[in-house]
Amino acid sequence: MGNPVKLPMKKGFGATDRIDAWWKGPTAMAFYLGFMVVYATWRGFMEADFWIFSEFGLSGGQGGHAGTMAIEDKQSHVLSPLFSPLIIPGEGGLGGPVPEFLWWMSPAMFILIFPAGFRGTCYYYRKAYYRAFLQQPTACAVSKPKLPPWKGYKGETKLLVVQNLHRYFMYVMLAYLPILSFDVWMSINFHEGDSHAYGLTVGSLILLVNVIMLTGYTLGCHAFRHIVGGGSNDWSSSPVARFKYKLWNISTILNEHHKDWALYSLFWVMFADFYVYACTMGWWNDYVLWGGM
Ligand code: FES
Repeated sequence: MGNPVKLPMKKGFGATDRIDAWWKGPTAMAFYLGFMVVYATWRGFMEADFWIFSEFGLSGGQGGHAGTMAIEDKQSHVLSPLFSPLIIPGEGGLGGPVPEFLWWMSPAMFILIFPAGFRGTCYYYRKAYYRAFLQQPTACAVSKPKLPPWKGYKGETKLLVVQNLHRYFMYVMLAYLPILSFDVWMSINFHEGDSHAYGLTVGSLILLVNVIMLTGYTLGCHAFRHIVGGGSNDWSSSPVARFKYKLWNISTILNEHHKDWALYSLFWVMFADFYVYACTMGWWNDYVLWGGM
């Protein structure tokens, strides 16, 4: 074997022979992801039992919990996807089994760990935030900082082995899709006393688009594509094999645009949450487009 050849790369943080605007992508990503993380954190702490945030829990005008999580003023129930499934610590329903020492937590804190884990370990997002926030690498053929943490290439070893949890987060996200679909169903069911009617609000449509976006993102996941097609060498001998082939095909088509699904679905889930928040605050009105009470 011959000796390895070192490419003649310029040295020094950001030094490169590239003449394109290579820094635009990572910079835009740093702003985009940074904003989304700040927004999700802000919402995640909302309705928590911290004194500093207590005013948020009351600000929705609905009184106490759920004030800023769901639109309730049209006799339908449009729940923000950041709070679904709704686990209110210390109260009935899903919040009942939560141990008392966790009752200070907000409903979103129980939920966000899974979507955050799924996105944080996603192959596409890893590429994006390794560049945008960690300069590891800065970009293709662009020199990294000349400091100890950036010396050499160690790959995803040590703490970063945690990235292997991605497929398990993916399993959880597959379970989320029916839950979020159920929220769409809930949002088109209007109730007042004993009467019931179907209706469609802008909020229902926003939740529906959210489910579609998250489905496209999840089914195009590299781990999902591997699960349905990775170990197969037979696509046709049985109905199960043919079904797996169909699924693998769908996953492949979605996977080709995984970056777009990743970025747009993130925007939409935050937008859906903001829509619910804005309506509960009285800034926007959740218009009934059809039916209702
Ligand atoms: S690789 Fe992106 S969601 Fe799995």
